Amino acid sequence: MSDLDQVKGINARQIKLLQENGISTAEALAMTPLSTVASIDGLGEKTAKKIIWNARNALGMTDFTPAAKIDDNVEYFTTGSAELNRILGGGFQTGKLTEVYGPFKSGKTALAHTISVTIQLPQKKGGIDGAVAYIDTENTFSKEKIKRIAKRFELNPKDILSRIFHARIYSSDHQAQMIQKAETLCKTRGVRLIIIDSLMALLRAEYIGIGKLAPRQAVLNNMIHGLSRVAETYNCAVLLTNQVAVKMMGMFSADDAIGGNIVAHGCHFRVMFKTKGFSSNNSLKRRAVIVDAPDLPPEECEFFITGAGVADTDKVELPESPGLDFEVETLYEDDDNSQESDEISDQQSSEPFPLIQVKGIGKGTVENLSAQGIKTVSDLLSANPEELSASISGASVKTVNEWQNNAKALMNS
Ligand SMILES: Nc1ncnc2c1ncn2[C@@H]1O[C@H](COP(=O)(O)OP(=O)(O)OP(=O)(O)O)[C@@H](O)[C@H]1O
Ligand SMILES: [Mg+2]
Repeated sequence: MSDLDQVKGINARQIKLLQENGISTAEALAMTPLSTVASIDGLGEKTAKKIIWNARNALGMTDFTPAAKIDDNVEYFTTGSAELNRILGGGFQTGKLTEVYGPFKSGKTALAHTISVTIQLPQKKGGIDGAVAYIDTENTFSKEKIKRIAKRFELNPKDILSRIFHARIYSSDHQAQMIQKAETLCKTRGVRLIIIDSLMALLRAEYIGIGKLAPRQAVLNNMIHGLSRVAETYNCAVLLTNQVAVKMMGMFSADDAIGGNIVAHGCHFRVMFKTKGFSSNNSLKRRAVIVDAPDLPPEECEFFITGAGVADTDKVELPESPGLDFEVETLYEDDDNSQESDEISDQQSSEPFPLIQVKGIGKGTVENLSAQGIKTVSDLLSANPEELSASISGASVKTVNEWQNNAKALMNS
């Protein structure tokens, strides 16, 4: 069952309200906290409770199940490294959240690219034939990298790119919005892997200082719970990459993932990538450590980053790929039938939306924004509303928030 209109006692107006708030299936309704549904304007606690309970009843969630009958539908796909697969218990898992954290250059983005391809492999070759939603907060997604990895696995790069739905993200609430959209892609486009590279970058930049810690953690909590629910509902894998901060422990220091307990407890698998301990800084050898996993020993392994993704060796051959009639380097040149991934990156590079197109921004405001260094829609989206409001007379924080929402709507249009 997947449609809200099949939930007993729910009417069209309530379905519309739920959908506007990102709850578009009976499963989503059944798994959303009562307080969240009750806080939707126009619903109220009594209605929220009734429809949630009815959704749970319809889905058989109000009975205990003998353990022998529990669905065990975990699927695994390869990370590109047999060693990494081994310590992960057989590969990257569906239905769960996996956090990979480590210092810069440790291979987090390389893994994100590799599994964006390997998940699309057929089952007999180590994949699950799934599509990908790639939430890119650091602007490090590379089509060239994807093409090389695709070639390594003897897949057609063009087909692979067309099943990676990419979103460049500019602010934490944009990130939350696109997490909700990723759920829709699970339903409609066969997405079985959601990647956020990286989870904390924007939150860390926007919520500065101890006073902002509580609101930041609240936003993060919503994201993690939302993703956890989507992972379970659609048996979807989730990779969250995370940065580290140095934590002092007496005389010693250690890298620690950021995001605190909410990330640590919210993720089922936590894997640390390390660059330290290898003879040369230029070495592409890395170490992976299982830090926390429900049913895995705390093992470690080594792997390599290569030009064609994560591997067990630094000498990955790109096969000649007989039957794949393209040159990797020239792919996409003169291609009129642009793919979704293309459209997104093209939008970024050419900045097709001048500020004047944003609803609520007139000529005078464009000049005022320009004087503050805000010249493009992406500058506007990455600005801090409070700081911007303080530097432009007559623009309240609410107004700046409206500009940013309108800019996002324009970009998504
Ligand atoms: N074509 C390539 N061939 C070999 N190594 C490469 C290639 N491209 C990138 N690398 C190496 O991969 C490493 C970068 O890894 P990656 O971008 O995955 O790190 P990261 O953990 O995501 O870092 P950050 O925290 O900065 O995002 C660098 O050491 C870089 O030298
Ligand atoms: Mg990275």
